[in-house]
Amino acid sequence: MGPPSNLLSLLVALAAVFASLYLINPIPQFLNNFTYFTLTALSPASAYLAKPLTWNFHRHHKKYPDNGNTDSICDDFPPGTPPPDTNTTSYLCVDRKGCCNFTTVQAAVNAVPNLSVQRTIIWINSGMYYEKVIVPKTKPNITFQGQGYTSTAIAWNDTALSANGTFYSASVQVFASNFIAKNISFMNLAPMPSPGAVGAQAVAIRVSGDQSEFRGCGFFGAQDTLHDDKGRHYFKDCYIQGSIDFIFGNARSLYENCQIVSIANPVPVGQKSINGAVTAHGRVSGDENTGFAFVNSTIGGNGRIWLGRAWRPYSRVVFAFTLMSDIIAPEGWNDFNDPSRDQTIFYGEYNCSGPGANTNLRAPYVQKLNDTQVLAFINTTFIDGDQWLETSK
Ligand SMILES: *[C@@H]1O[C@H](CO)[C@@H](O)[C@H](O)[C@H]1NC(C)=O
Ligand SMILES: *[C@@H]1O[C@H](CO)[C@@H](O)[C@H](O)[C@H]1NC(C)=O
Ligand SMILES: *[C@@H]1O[C@H](CO)[C@@H](O)[C@H](O)[C@H]1NC(C)=O
Ligand SMILES: *[C@@H]1O[C@H](CO)[C@@H](O)[C@H](O)[C@H]1NC(C)=O
Ligand SMILES: *[C@@H]1O[C@H](CO)[C@@H](O)[C@H](O)[C@H]1NC(C)=O
Ligand SMILES: *[C@@H]1O[C@H](CO)[C@@H](O)[C@H](O)[C@H]1NC(C)=O
Ligand SMILES: *[C@@H]1O[C@H](CO)[C@@H](O)[C@H](O)[C@H]1NC(C)=O
Ligand SMILES: *[C@@H]1O[C@H](CO)[C@@H](O)[C@H](O)[C@H]1NC(C)=O
Ligand SMILES: *[C@@H]1O[C@H](CO)[C@@H](O)[C@H](O)[C@H]1NC(C)=O
Ligand SMILES: *[C@@H]1O[C@H](CO)[C@@H](O)[C@H](O)[C@H]1NC(C)=O
Ligand SMILES: *[C@@H]1O[C@H](CO)[C@@H](O)[C@H](O)[C@H]1NC(C)=O
Ligand SMILES: *[C@@H]1O[C@H](CO)[C@@H](O)[C@H](O)[C@H]1NC(C)=O
Repeated sequence: MGPPSNLLSLLVALAAVFASLYLINPIPQFLNNFTYFTLTALSPASAYLAKPLTWNFHRHHKKYPDNGNTDSICDDFPPGTPPPDTNTTSYLCVDRKGCCNFTTVQAAVNAVPNLSVQRTIIWINSGMYYEKVIVPKTKPNITFQGQGYTSTAIAWNDTALSANGTFYSASVQVFASNFIAKNISFMNLAPMPSPGAVGAQAVAIRVSGDQSEFRGCGFFGAQDTLHDDKGRHYFKDCYIQGSIDFIFGNARSLYENCQIVSIANPVPVGQKSINGAVTAHGRVSGDENTGFAFVNSTIGGNGRIWLGRAWRPYSRVVFAFTLMSDIIAPEGWNDFNDPSRDQTIFYGEYNCSGPGANTNLRAPYVQKLNDTQVLAFINTTFIDGDQWLETSK
């Protein structure tokens, strides 16, 4: 989705970089340069992928590798991984250096049987996987198991322009149901759009299947990072980075214990311009049971941003028990400059804390939810989790 031109006029480029005085979520060291990354700067993957490497599982157990043996590249492959198949689960192994069956995540996805009722765990060794991945509708019940969101990532750099539309720009597109991801990051490395840029928004992941869960995952991008498109989704202990509308879509999702980090440009103290928004939820009608609920999360980083703006008239978002830094503008939210939406949007806040959580100057349509109203949004019942979450099975 592109920002409307009237928002673009609000976006202000700032040459000077001010240190944030109140930074709840500093960007991790390993990603300091993230927004300036290009694939050229990070090219070693292609060298590995181009070279066919022989797979030899036993080598991983070798205690004393031959010095100078070029095959010793696999000696640090974690022994005993992935675990053996069980009755209900089969494993596929991905290692970019070629130390197990697959060198790309897509190749492993392709090897998963169609319409399997069993779960297939795609075990992905640490490393950056430079590829665009699609999990088609015919492949439900896939898990991406990484080794940590700071050490395992799938990254590409399409933009709305290069992919013929924002919805196709995602580095990873999941159309299948019952998709799970653990301890892995999804990145779009396209440069952060400059103010006024057209078609520069770039999605890291599009989640379009029902019943998806993400635990300990990272989502890295700038504008439109996480396309939480449709279905019921659960995000726990995740790190989500972006600038404009960086969690958007029309899913029904619960975000628990997540770190939300804005990389919008720093705005000088006293300046009132807005240069980002955390959410752009797209509920189209009051009949839809969709919405984003954030619980026990933190919002930090840079910029002067809104918690959400009304991409569609019935946009629905709730923040509860969330710590907000002073990057949140006092009015908090935006109706997409369409006052007719004030009657239909549902923006609620409950028991949040931090300098950005002061509701005194909030836009008039914002609801300060009471103890009863908030109950529907603050646990996994919001997403019918008892029916499908892995922990409830
Ligand atoms: C950031 O980029 C500079 C120059 O490209 C490089 O020297 C430095 O190691 C990078 N820092 C990190 C944390 O990757
Ligand atoms: C992605 O990165 C590569 C390498 O830097 C570059 O050639 C390509 O143009 C980029 N793609 C887009 C859509 O910017
Ligand atoms: C596989 O499942 C069957 C039936 O549930 C059970 O009897 C058997 O012990 C299981 N085998 C293993 C290796 O877990
Ligand atoms: C992976 O490689 C091992 C060893 O060659 C082989 O036994 C196994 O069948 C392979 N699995 C897949 C899914 O290709
Ligand atoms: C899954 O189905 C598609 C087309 O429907 C086919 O091209 C593909 O080979 C199938 N994959 C497997 C692993 O059976
Ligand atoms: C597999 O997918 C089907 C259809 O999405 C779902 O009903 C089933 O519960 C899933 N099985 C597992 C093991 O997740
Ligand atoms: C790009 O999108 C337009 C409009 O949706 C469509 O007509 C066109 O075929 C697409 N082009 C490609 C190359 O996918
Ligand atoms: C994910 O990583 C965390 C921290 O490194 C670890 O405690 C946890 O066991 C991992 N979980 C999974 C499912 O990989
Ligand atoms: C809130 O989130 C933090 C980490 O982000 C976690 O340590 C803590 O246990 C969570 N509290 C609750 C009540 O879930
Ligand atoms: C609101 O949060 C504070 C701590 O942040 C807690 O002490 C208080 O009990 C909470 N209020 C309600 C109604 O849960
Ligand atoms: C909470 O708000 C609802 C809707 O405005 C109202 O019906 C209800 O009485 C309120 N409950 C409490 C405990 O204040
Ligand atoms: C969620 O909260 C509702 C309302 O308090 C409660 O009825 C439900 O049992 C809770 N669900 C879970 C999974 O704790």
